[in-house]
Amino acid sequence: MTTKSMSSVRVRARRQTDLDEVLAIERACFSDAPWDAESLNRYDCTVAEVDSAVRGFLISRELVPSLEGLGGERELLNIAVDPAWRRQGIARALLEHEIAHGGALFLEVRNSNLAAQSLYKSYGFTEIGRRDEYYQSPKESAIVMRLKW
Ligand SMILES: CC(C)(COP(=O)(O)OP(=O)(O)OC[C@H]1O[C@@H](n2cnc3c(N)ncnc32)[C@H](O)[C@@H]1OP(=O)(O)O)[C@@H](O)C(=O)NCCC(=O)NCCS
Repeated sequence: MTTKSMSSVRVRARRQTDLDEVLAIERACFSDAPWDAESLNRYDCTVAEVDSAVRGFLISRELVPSLEGLGGERELLNIAVDPAWRRQGIARALLEHEIAHGGALFLEVRNSNLAAQSLYKSYGFTEIGRRDEYYQSPKESAIVMRLKW
């Protein structure tokens, strides 16, 4: 795998025309690749664009709306970066855009996914629980994390 040199990252809402690029990154990143066009359309999806191409994406949803200055609650459902474009701050750009919603942000991460856990901990996410055998293919427990402002 080669690593590309990076110009600036632009984070924006996903457009329908991004679908093939998002699904290609999804397939390159996950052995079980559970997201398809229909499930993507159901949630909020932002993409990170570098040199006019999508290099990463983040999927999230609102759990509780924010009300009169009180932060709401959101869940980060997926984040992935093209393997050739990793360790260049693309996930950070996507996550910072999501965190800017304020309130509390929840997520689940595979027990073995130390890269993602390191990313989340660097923003102050803390473990609030575990779910046994939450993931399939391969079967694994999930760590539930929360960031609260
Ligand atoms: C996890 C993932 C999204 C990180 O994307 P990325 O663009 O490479 O991450 P960044 O360059 O923004 O790195 C931010 C921080 O994450 C952590 N990190 C990222 N990759 C890491 C690795 N391989 N090992 C350890 N820490 C890692 C580091 O703290 C890093 O900061 P640093 O570069 O200053 O040390 C990417 O590896 C990926 O797509 N993995 C497969 C999909 C996945 O596991 N998604 C998470 C589902 S919960």
